[in-house]
Amino acid sequence: MKLVTAIIKPFKLDDVREALSEIGIQGMTVTEVKGFGRQKGHTEIYRGAEYAVDFLPKIRLDIAIKSEDVQKVIDAIILAAATGKMGDGKIFVTQLEHVVRIRTGETDENAV
Ligand SMILES: Nc1ncnc2c1ncn2[C@@H]1O[C@H](COP(=O)(O)OP(=O)(O)OP(=O)(O)O)[C@@H](O)[C@H]1O
Ligand SMILES: [Mg+2]
Repeated sequence: MKLVTAIIKPFKLDDVREALSEIGIQGMTVTEVKGFGRQKGHTEIYRGAEYAVDFLPKIRLDIAIKSEDVQKVIDAIILAAATGKMGDGKIFVTQLEHVVRIRTGETDENAV
């Protein structure tokens, strides 16, 4: 299993949620976060001058999935979240060791 963590622009949340539902994703966690990337929260760096860092509001999605679904989840997020402009976000994929569905006691691939 994999844990896909995607940082996206907040106004793209509905599109991404819809795209993930369409490919059969059964659950996700959404968190309001703040962050910065290479532009340090600015849309450009003036002549390479150092600016103070500004944190911009972003949405973080955490999605636990079967390993075989990882590429289709990444593709769906990219398609739905991309604007082509800076700050579109990032996708992090990590190995997921163990999942338990509390109500049923099901585990791992049966629980995601
Ligand atoms: N290396 C990183 N580690 C953790 N979070 C990051 C990292 N880079 C970006 N993020 C998160 O993703 C958000 C969006 O990053 P962003 O899309 O601006 O990345 P970028 O590398 O600057 O790419 P771009 O040039 O397209 O803007 C950031 O606000 C931050 O929350
Ligand atoms: Mg950036």
